[in-house]
Order: sequence, then C-alpha cells, then structure tokens
Amino acid sequence: MNFSGGNVFIIIAFITVFKLNNLLLLCFADPTSGFTNVPLTEANFRRERPYNVPLEDRYSYVNGTHRFWVYADDKPYDPGSLTQPRTEIHGYDYSSGVWQFEGFAFVPNGTSGATIVQIHGAAHGNTTILLRIYEGQMRYYSSEVVDTGLYDKWFRVNLIHDVDGGKVTVFIDGVQKFQTHDQGPGDLFFKFGVYAAPANISYYMESRWRDIKI
Ligand SMILES: *[C@@H]1O[C@H](CO)[C@@H](O)[C@H](O)[C@H]1NC(C)=O
Ligand SMILES: *[C@@H]1O[C@H](CO)[C@@H](O)[C@H](O)[C@H]1NC(C)=O
Ligand SMILES: *[C@@H]1O[C@H](CO)[C@@H](O)[C@H](O)[C@H]1NC(C)=O
Ligand SMILES: *[C@@H]1O[C@H](CO)[C@@H](O)[C@H](O)[C@H]1NC(C)=O
Repeated sequence: MNFSGGNVFIIIAFITVFKLNNLLLLCFADPTSGFTNVPLTEANFRRERPYNVPLEDRYSYVNGTHRFWVYADDKPYDPGSLTQPRTEIHGYDYSSGVWQFEGFAFVPNGTSGATIVQIHGAAHGNTTILLRIYEGQMRYYSSEVVDTGLYDKWFRVNLIHDVDGGKVTVFIDGVQKFQTHDQGPGDLFFKFGVYAAPANISYYMESRWRDIKI
C-alpha cells in the first residue's frame, strides 16, 4: 500500500468534513426534517377581515405574497364578535398528533401589538399560542420575548405543535427560540395575518407571508 502524504491529507480532510457536517446537522437540524408536507387547498386559506369592508381593502395576494393590514379602530371579523380587529387566514385544522406550520414573514417597522401567527383552539381558553410583534420583538402573548430585531426583513417561522405531548416549539430562521406547554387538545388550527392585541397597539398593523407549508 502506498500511503503517500497526499492520501493521508485527503483522508483527514474527509474525516474533518464528515465531522463538521454532523456537527452542523446537530446545531442546525432543519425543523421540518421527518415531517411530511401536506397538500393545501383553498379550504386551508379561509380569509377573515373586518366585517364591514371588502377583502381587497385589507388584503392582497401578489406574486406569492399574502399581505394583510388592519387598523386599530376597525370592526371585528363578525358583527356578533367582541374580539379585536383582524385580517387573517384560517389555515389547517387538526386535533391530535404532531403538526407543523412553516411560513416566511415580513413585518414593517411601525406595526406593533399585532399577532402575526397563532394556533387557535385549546382545552383551556381560546388559543394555544399567539405570537405577537411589539416594537420589532416577537412575544408569546404579551409576555416572554421569543426573538428581537424582526422589523423590515423576511424571517422564517416554524411552529411545531405536539398535541399528544402537550408542547409547542417556535423556530425563527431555523433556530429554536421558544418552547412551552400547550393548553390541552381541542379543535385546533393555524392562523396567520394580523390580529390586534388587547392593548399597546399601533394604529396601522401589517404583516406579509409567503411559502406557507403545513
Ligand atoms: C416576484 O417574486 C420573485 C421571487 O420571490 C422576485 O424575484 C420578483 O422580483 C417578484 N416580482 C415582483 C413584481 O414583485
Ligand atoms: C423604526 O422606525 C423608527 C422611526 O422612524 C426608527 O427610529 C427606528 O430606528 C426604526 N427601527 C428599525 C428597526 O428600523
Ligand atoms: C374566548 O372567546 C370568547 C368569544 O370571543 C370570549 O367571550 C372569551 O372571553 C374568550 N375566553 C378567553 C379565556 O379569552
Ligand atoms: C402596555 O405597555 C406598557 C408600557 O410598556 C406596559 O407597562 C403594559 O404592561 C402593557 N400592557 C399590555 C397589556 O401589554
């Protein structure tokens, strides 16, 4: 066998690259690995808006990007509802198992106090998780900070709900940022868009979303 310096170098280089790859996989495992992409239909894109205005006054879909906006003094989505104003898409329904939402979001500077993505439904209360933007920070409801510096840029959101394990995990740009217990099972569904928080909201609220996957 001819073990020349060159061969040894190649073997060492190979082992190094192999180890580096494993390390990268460990640090930056894609949140979607092991999940199966579910085909989405129009039924997974039910649009809600203040009940007294036409959809095109609060929503557009251009070039693959959903754009949602709403004003603090807008009406709720339904005349009988006492909820805050919203322009949202009601996404995929589920009730058990492990489900993941993925989308790329953009929030312009100035939008504050707006839920941009949520899991609706729970055994206790109305929602499992709300992710709100306040002053460029993403918060779990109005409390824990999930991530910061999110204005005026596209960022990837992955939200995993392990219903059977009672756990919700949030990834921003592929990095796990937050994990919490859920509020028990129920008639669950993902929503995204803009939904005004009860307090500390800007007059104008907007989010944009593209490449939605479940
Ligand atoms: C449409 O989207 C593509 C890819 O995201 C982008 O390169 C292009 O500039 C967009 N076109 C318009 C008119 O916004
Ligand atoms: C947002 O806009 C305000 C007012 O124009 C500015 O002071 C602030 O630096 C901006 N923030 C970011 C993150 O761009
Ligand atoms: C759930 O939603 C209903 C209807 O909007 C509302 O009356 C109720 O107060 C909400 N419950 C909680 C715990 O937020
Ligand atoms: C609104 O903002 C004020 C000042 O930052 C804070 O003290 C208060 O807790 C906030 N209220 C809610 C409901 O987020």
